[in-house]
Amino acid sequence: MSETTKKPVLFSGIQPTGSITLGNYIGAMRNFVLLEDDYDCLFCIVDLHALTVRQDPAALRRKTLELAALYIAAGLDPERSIIYCQSHVPQHAELAWVLNCFSYMGELGRMTQFKDKSARHKDNINAGLFTYPVLMAADILLYQAAVVPVGADQKQHLEITRDIAQRLNAIYPGLFRVPEPHIPRETAKIQSLSEPEKKMSKSDPEDSLISLLDKPEDVRRKFRRAVTDSDGEIRFDPENKPGVSNLLSILSVLSGEGMEALTQRLAGQGYGKLKDETAEAVNAALSPIQQRFAQLMADKTYLAHTLADNARRAQGMAQKTLRKVYKKLGLYQP
Ligand code: TRP
Repeated sequence: MSETTKKPVLFSGIQPTGSITLGNYIGAMRNFVLLEDDYDCLFCIVDLHALTVRQDPAALRRKTLELAALYIAAGLDPERSIIYCQSHVPQHAELAWVLNCFSYMGELGRMTQFKDKSARHKDNINAGLFTYPVLMAADILLYQAAVVPVGADQKQHLEITRDIAQRLNAIYPGLFRVPEPHIPRETAKIQSLSEPEKKMSKSDPEDSLISLLDKPEDVRRKFRRAVTDSDGEIRFDPENKPGVSNLLSILSVLSGEGMEALTQRLAGQGYGKLKDETAEAVNAALSPIQQRFAQLMADKTYLAHTLADNARRAQGMAQKTLRKVYKKLGLYQP
C-alpha cells in the first residue's frame, strides 16, 4: 500500500480472543482476499479492545500471534495489505481520547453490546467497556476508511462511528471521511452447530463451532454431533430446518456445488451422509490453511518482522490524520 495510492481504504478489526471460526473464514476472511484488488486494506488485531474483559497475558500474546499467522495463512498478503496490532500504533489510543471528548454518556449507554456485556460481567463494568465504541471509531477514522466490513452485531458501533465523524465534521469541515458498511457479495450465513438458530460465534463453546485450527478428527466429530431435526429430509429451508440448512450452506459454499444440484443429489439419503460430506469439504478447505499456519508459527522471526514493518506503515497513515485533528482542534503543533 503506497502513500500516493488512490484506492479507497477498507478497515477491518478482529479481537485476538476466542477461536477464529469457519464462519469468520467464509463470511469475512475469504472475501478479504478478493477485496485486496479494490481497496487498500488494513487488518487490525484489536488487542486494546480485548483488555475490556480480563485476559490471561500469556494466552493473549499467543492468540495475537496466531491471528496474524491465520490472516496470512488464509491468503492475505502482508506486503500489500497492512496486517498489524492495534497497540503497536499509539495513534489509536490518542485519537480515541479526542473522540471521547465528543461522545456522549447517553449514546454510549444505549449501545446493545455495552448493555449485554455489563449484564454478563457484573463484577467488571469498567470504563473501557463503556468507551469501547469510541476506540473502535478511532480505529476507523484514523485511516479515513471508506468501508468497514461488519456483521450485524457491529452495525450499531459503525453507526455511532458515523455519528461521531459527522459531529466533528460539522464543527471542523472535512476532518473525517464518513465510513460506510461493506456488504459482502455473497452472504452464506454460518450458524452454530449446537444451536443452529444462532450464528456461529468465536466466543461460543468449542463444540458449537469449527475453529480454523481444528484437527480433521475434531471436525468430523463436531459435524457428527451437529444438531439437525427429526424429519429426515434433506432440504434447504433455514426457517424450519436450520441445522440441515446450515450443513447444506457450508457444503455448497465450500464445494462450489449449487444448492439446487446439491439437494437433488442428496435427496433421500441420510443426515449421516450429509454430515460426512460436509466434514470432508471443511477439512479440504482447512488443510492448506493449517499447513501454511504451521510454517508461519515455526518462523516467529518472520512474523515479528512483518508485524513491526506493517505497524510502521500504519503509523505513517495514522499520524497524518492525527496531526490534522490536533491542528484543527487547536492543539499547538510546532
Ligand atoms: N468491535 C469489533 C468486534 O468485536 C472489533 C473491532 C474493533 C472492529 N475495531 C474495529 C471492527 C474497527 C471493525 C472496525 O467484532
